[in-house]
Amino acid sequence: MKNIVIVYGSTTGNTERVAGLIKDELGEAQVINVADVDNAVVKAADLVLFGTSTWGYGDLQDDFADYIESIDADLVGGKDVAVFGCGDSASFPDVFCQGVTEVMDAVQQAGGKLIVEELRVDGDVDDNLDAISAFANSLK
Ligand SMILES: Cc1cc2nc3c(=O)[nH]c(=O)nc-3n(C[C@H](O)[C@H](O)[C@H](O)COP(=O)(O)O)c2cc1C
Repeated sequence: MKNIVIVYGSTTGNTERVAGLIKDELGEAQVINVADVDNAVVKAADLVLFGTSTWGYGDLQDDFADYIESIDADLVGGKDVAVFGCGDSASFPDVFCQGVTEVMDAVQQAGGKLIVEELRVDGDVDDNLDAISAFANSLK
């Protein structure tokens, strides 16, 4: 069985909830708050999912902002990776889910392999359940 690790940063719980929904769909996976993550666990994974919301004006979620420097070749080089996150396109059309883009850039620069299209959850999580399910299934 694949060792899957989901590392999320979430301020008001939306990205945390999405992480849990993805895990439910995948079955086996470890879900870890980025504020508490042990990189040895990330290194040991066959597949890593990074999730972050976007705050300020196109900024990474605070805990993920503290972590992004850790995304280097030693951590994710050659590894299968997928990225997801929450944002609000109605209020922030020009920087909608910019945090997701930033994490994808970091993964690519570090030599990680983005194996599926990213998931950008727009607004209420409950309005995105089909897209979340499709994203999780694309990883199977
Ligand atoms: C003050 C504030 C700033 C925000 N800035 C952005 C932004 O720049 N881009 C975006 O897509 N969403 C933005 N959002 C929306 C949040 O990303 C969205 O509410 C998200 O679901 C929060 O996820 P979390 O609970 O996992 O942190 C902002 C929301 C607030 C309240």
